[in-house]
Amino acid sequence: MSPDPPPWAPRLGADPSALDTPSLIVDRQALLRNIEALMSRLGALGVSVRPHLKTAKCAEIARLLLAAGARGCCVAKLGEAEVLAEAGVGDLLITTEIAGQPKLARLTALLARHPQIKLVVDSTAGARALNDALAAARCRGEVLIDLDVGQRRTGALPGAPALELAAALAALPALQLVGVQGYEGHLQLAPDAERERDSATAMRLLTDTAAQLRAAGHRVDIVSTGGTGTAELCARHAGVTEVQPGSFVFMDGAYRRAIGTKYEHALSLVATVISAPRPREAVIDAGLKALSTDSGPAEPKGLPGMRYRPAGDEHGILSWDEGLPYAFTPGDRIELYPSHIDTTVHLHDSYHVFDAGRLVAVWPIAARGKVQ
Ligand SMILES: Cc1ncc(COP(=O)(O)O)c(C=O)c1O
Repeated sequence: MSPDPPPWAPRLGADPSALDTPSLIVDRQALLRNIEALMSRLGALGVSVRPHLKTAKCAEIARLLLAAGARGCCVAKLGEAEVLAEAGVGDLLITTEIAGQPKLARLTALLARHPQIKLVVDSTAGARALNDALAAARCRGEVLIDLDVGQRRTGALPGAPALELAAALAALPALQLVGVQGYEGHLQLAPDAERERDSATAMRLLTDTAAQLRAAGHRVDIVSTGGTGTAELCARHAGVTEVQPGSFVFMDGAYRRAIGTKYEHALSLVATVISAPRPREAVIDAGLKALSTDSGPAEPKGLPGMRYRPAGDEHGILSWDEGLPYAFTPGDRIELYPSHIDTTVHLHDSYHVFDAGRLVAVWPIAARGKVQ
């Protein structure tokens, strides 16, 4: 029997003031609207959606996405796949190459239990190591060739290098080629015109290579690409079969600045004012350990002219110009929108889910911290 929760733990039905801080708050209705908006836009374009769980890292959100019609999900890391597959989300594409003996040993154990998990490869050496590990464990894996369509991160080059890799894969009995992945991460936050122009180039590289692979006799069922910034552009390009957006579920400051209000902010962080020692400044209990800053500072919600800056690991400072009508005393609360959700979510254990101002669920962020 689990012990009774302590008296200060928030109960279902509580309002947000019952939460200790800093805590992540999910607006359930906004989350559902974001999912519905994305699925209906992309469904109308005839592509499958395989949302990326590197953002939400949460089995409950994966289940909402699957119930809304997602064909499966993506994860970035083997550790995320382990946690989410055990939680029942088994149709996963791991979008990052897996290398090194410790990981290959974990991967074979995972594939033995969840054979539908798909992998990406971008080199013959990587593919051989993967093949040998799987063959030694008497299992097989379905793989996509990861293509560099302009991001210059991972990926075999389109065209001849991809064909060479496919030929090498054909000789590796534990691996079955099923498709290609080409993620154009460099374009997600680009200005509209650049995003549109350069994603068309990236999609041509991706789908032309898919066609060349098929012409050479290889199996290419899946052509997977796209993120929140480009999914609709990718989906309109003939030959793309599925898209991988992740951030749309919650949105963040960086994406709002880039793509506007197409999706709503569905995630905020609630913090408490702990000190107000100077005019036009207040100190809150949320610093670098609660809000990531790789995409700039978080934005106070509903407080025009209010600025936030981290003031160390545990502290943050709110500041505002003279003439603005703000005044805080310790114990006051404010909410902030993260500038980058993936790296902020990574810092927290759970989502507090609110609907009509009442706590309706606490969802574990089961894959948080799973960087291996
Ligand atoms: C391979 C891959 N696909 C899809 C995504 C999803 O992108 P976003 O969260 O911008 O929608 C990412 C994000 O980094 C990614 O690395």
